[in-house]
Amino acid sequence: SCSSIKPSASSSLSVAESFTKDSASRIESLSQVSGVLGSQWGDEGKGKLVDILAEHFDIVARCQGGANAGHTIYNSEGKKFALHLVPSGILNEDTLCVIGNGVVVHLPEVDGLREAELAKSFIGTTRRGIGPCYSSKVIRNGIRVCDLRHMDTFPQKLDVLLSDAASRFENFKYGPEMLKEEVERYKRFAERLEPFIVDTVHFMNDSIAKKKKILVEGGQATMLDIDFGTYPFVTSSSPSAGGICTGLGIAPRVVGDLIGVVKAYTSRVGSGPFPTEILGQGGDLLRFAGQEFGTTTGRPRRCGWLDVVALKYVCQINGFSSLNLTKLDVLSEFSEIQIGVSYKQIDGTPVESFPGDLRLLEQLKVEYEVLPGWNSDISSVRKYEDLPKAAQQYVERIEKLVGVPIHYIGVGPGRDALIYK
Ligand code: GTP
Repeated sequence: SCSSIKPSASSSLSVAESFTKDSASRIESLSQVSGVLGSQWGDEGKGKLVDILAEHFDIVARCQGGANAGHTIYNSEGKKFALHLVPSGILNEDTLCVIGNGVVVHLPEVDGLREAELAKSFIGTTRRGIGPCYSSKVIRNGIRVCDLRHMDTFPQKLDVLLSDAASRFENFKYGPEMLKEEVERYKRFAERLEPFIVDTVHFMNDSIAKKKKILVEGGQATMLDIDFGTYPFVTSSSPSAGGICTGLGIAPRVVGDLIGVVKAYTSRVGSGPFPTEILGQGGDLLRFAGQEFGTTTGRPRRCGWLDVVALKYVCQINGFSSLNLTKLDVLSEFSEIQIGVSYKQIDGTPVESFPGDLRLLEQLKVEYEVLPGWNSDISSVRKYEDLPKAAQQYVERIEKLVGVPIHYIGVGPGRDALIYK
């Protein structure tokens, strides 16, 4: 198991003033172990919700992914924080942040070399070494955080790992000098990390027994899941509900409410199928209105309409108790809004569910419903009943199509720009 990180004492944030009694009781009533998970292809805005919920939880834990997740959150003074490995609960002084066993800490270089090796059919990873790290874990030559405590055996483990990379990749330069330098580097890391290393499986289960409230923060999203996503254009971990148990060592029966975070439209980074993608100018409009450029890499994201077929599939896999619809404000620029409601094969045969077969996915036709836009700025709206009727209609149509209630609606990047429904 990996490490726990104590929160920084640098920020003193208060509960968002716009909280009504209802919103506070809604958050208070979340289960002892709750989770916030991405419901599309990532970048839905999970960080903001986790940051808001964190002050009602004792612990915020990450269970999968690595520094490829890039949460952007703004504190109440509007200061921007871009987080990668550390859970978004870190801005909250009283929250303890845990990085669980399912998380990987990257080894730079190899990811880029693997992408180069795959040449034209590249996956579009963030090149943060996450994939290679997970492959090492699975082929069992990975190095665990607890190995940093044993500097007598550490060099040999590192040698096995680096020799393996050198034998795989021609451009990976490795020799005895490099091993010596790397071991020295890791000795320094080990000293700094030692106070934060705990057995997280014991820690989490002990915290559950002590009735501590735990919020699990998902990175990436189910459509990027190694099993359920659009394979091979996926991440190397399980960002869906199952990853909570395998990445923290806690039992399925203790996991309660799961909130799915879904953008009011869809975005995707890198390659892979994207049925509701808008190409050309419409896509540009969404990209610029929604500032759809990667937090970690700055890469422009592909944009498109909300895909309800994919969302239903994701809700099924995760059993979400509610949804957080984010970035509804971004759609204010559109005079009409489309929702992808069903798929058909080219010959007109309906497709029952989101297909795992990529060939089928690439060839299908999406059927859309068109709803009126609201053509007004909603970023200062804080009560559901104050949203324009057309915006309410959009929210309620999604709830009806998906069958899961939307309890939180994001209307801006700030902490307070959230409507409780
Ligand atoms: P990954 O874990 O990498 O998938 O990221 P994420 O889901 O945590 O997304 P992130 O927190 O980086 O959010 C994406 C961006 O959306 C950030 O710049 C947020 O500030 C912004 N954001 C979140 N909610 C809203 C919203 O309701 N409206 C607007 N306009 N921006 C939002």
